[in-house]
Amino acid sequence: MRILAVETSCDETAIAIAGFSGTKKWPKILVLSNIVSSQAEVHAKYGGVVPNLAKREHQRNLVPVLIRALKRAKLANPKRKTQNYKLQLKIKKLEKILEREPELFARFKKSILPFITPHIDAISVTCGPGLAPALWVGVNFAKALAHLWDKPLIPINHMTGHLYSAFLKKSERKNNQLLVASYRLPAIALLVSGGHTELVLMRSNKKVKVIGETLDDAAGEAFDKVARILGLRYPGGPEISCEADKLLVTSYQLPNKLPRPMITSKDYNFSFSGLKTAVLYLTRDLGPKLTKKLRPQIAKEFQSAVVEVLVKKTLRAAKEYKVKTVLLGGGVAANSLLRQRLTEIIKKELPETSCQLPIASLTGDNALMIAVAAYFTGKKRAPKKVLAEPNLRL
Ligand code: KG4
Ligand code: ZN
Repeated sequence: MRILAVETSCDETAIAIAGFSGTKKWPKILVLSNIVSSQAEVHAKYGGVVPNLAKREHQRNLVPVLIRALKRAKLANPKRKTQNYKLQLKIKKLEKILEREPELFARFKKSILPFITPHIDAISVTCGPGLAPALWVGVNFAKALAHLWDKPLIPINHMTGHLYSAFLKKSERKNNQLLVASYRLPAIALLVSGGHTELVLMRSNKKVKVIGETLDDAAGEAFDKVARILGLRYPGGPEISCEADKLLVTSYQLPNKLPRPMITSKDYNFSFSGLKTAVLYLTRDLGPKLTKKLRPQIAKEFQSAVVEVLVKKTLRAAKEYKVKTVLLGGGVAANSLLRQRLTEIIKKELPETSCQLPIASLTGDNALMIAVAAYFTGKKRAPKKVLAEPNLRL
């Protein structure tokens, strides 16, 4: 089984091709290609992702990213005769599918049409949640490919992708092979990204339930906004982490600790906007000069506050639902303090429970996780209509 996946929910244009063999539950996953083209540079000067710029960039990037993915997978064979009658009919339909992306259609016609249908079994695409203009480009592009190559199209929830990224581990035998790590259900997953912060209870591949989520800003969003307040670049997560690591000696104490919002609330919800505002007030009181001087300290205290809340609530959920595995996924899962604290606390307080962290290179948005999620959750019959659903829930 070979799946080609497309991901464009935010500011990464990503295409992956993966081959699945072995048993259904414990497949060997051959990563034929996994291309991610980041637009972070384009959005950095605005301090966050601009939806219409993201759409424009996806329109520009999808065709070259696909060609790279096909070449890397050795599936690029540009020898099709583009003159035959059947193909002319297809082109008419392709133009209709991509009518809102004329620039993309022109590129598609010129550069994708000549390729002989690659040896794949299905196409999967992120249909939501995400930025509407960005999602639509990916969905329409995947629809066009599915029509051109006569392949089924499997819509996938972006958060399901992040969930499955936590199940993967590197094979010791081949460097382009991944395996599914041994896990036991039920599991609790902490999914933390730029758009979402969710605690998800997983009883089987089909039974997943969100038991808590953020009431305002997502954890990654808070990192991005606080980075901006501190004069650091977008994306803020890695910047704040790096700034916090600069703190060697504490020569000056911040006037007070930052809050740990909702850490003791009885539910599993989160709230990070108050924490962001607390940083805003703190920097206002300190003034620009002192803020810059104390920046590593503020970054460290902010990071500790976010991590403490995330870890404490995940632990409590793991205890209440008596789970056998704790999973971590999403862009913020790259944060080393979060990885370290979550592993430590689970080991100490729930020694029978395993803690499964995603491979660092698969924490951010990528299409490989969309291919893997399609393999595990895709319906046998592809749906007739695939739409972008910006507010899709798990
Ligand atoms: O999953 P993701 O790549 O995109 C969305 O689905 O939103 O997550 C992106 C988020 C950004 O907010 C970014 O600042 C955050 O993940 N992030 C981090 C780190 N690396 C990325 N946050 C904290 N620490 C990091 N090392
Ligand atoms: Zn994501």
